[in-house]
Amino acid sequence: MAKRETAEKHRARLLRTARSAMKKAYAPYSRFRVGAAILTNTGKVFSGCNVENASYGMTNCAERTAIFSAVAQLGPKLGIRAVAVVNDHGVPCSPCGACRQVIYEFGPDAIVFFQGVKGEKQAHITDLLPEGFRLK
Ligand code: THU
Repeated sequence: MAKRETAEKHRARLLRTARSAMKKAYAPYSRFRVGAAILTNTGKVFSGCNVENASYGMTNCAERTAIFSAVAQLGPKLGIRAVAVVNDHGVPCSPCGACRQVIYEFGPDAIVFFQGVKGEKQAHITDLLPEGFRLK
């Protein structure tokens, strides 16, 4: 089965998991709650929410929370097959630039599910982040 189809098979579950994580968001400043879920190469699912801070720049996006949580639990060999992102405003919300680079680090072939300007969308990480940075 093609990778894209494999990820598609998990889409509903990832979106459901992301929606559940979104409810845990700590977003008192923006009041914009975001949830994310990732599917690993071994079929495991991890989730995260945005965690804001009074020093705004220290905010951690939902996508990075999910990825860092997966590394903390699985270790450095994490491989990401797919990512789903949702928000509680029902507005377009693709991963920010920093999150795209972090997704690319662990999932250079990952598919990302998110709400685009014209509704539900899926995109390959390299379409969202052309020429992402790699050290190895
Ligand atoms: N945010 C995410 O968690 N993920 C995204 O993809 C976009 C933005 C968060 C960061 C901040 O807490 C809030 O949304 C408003 O920018």
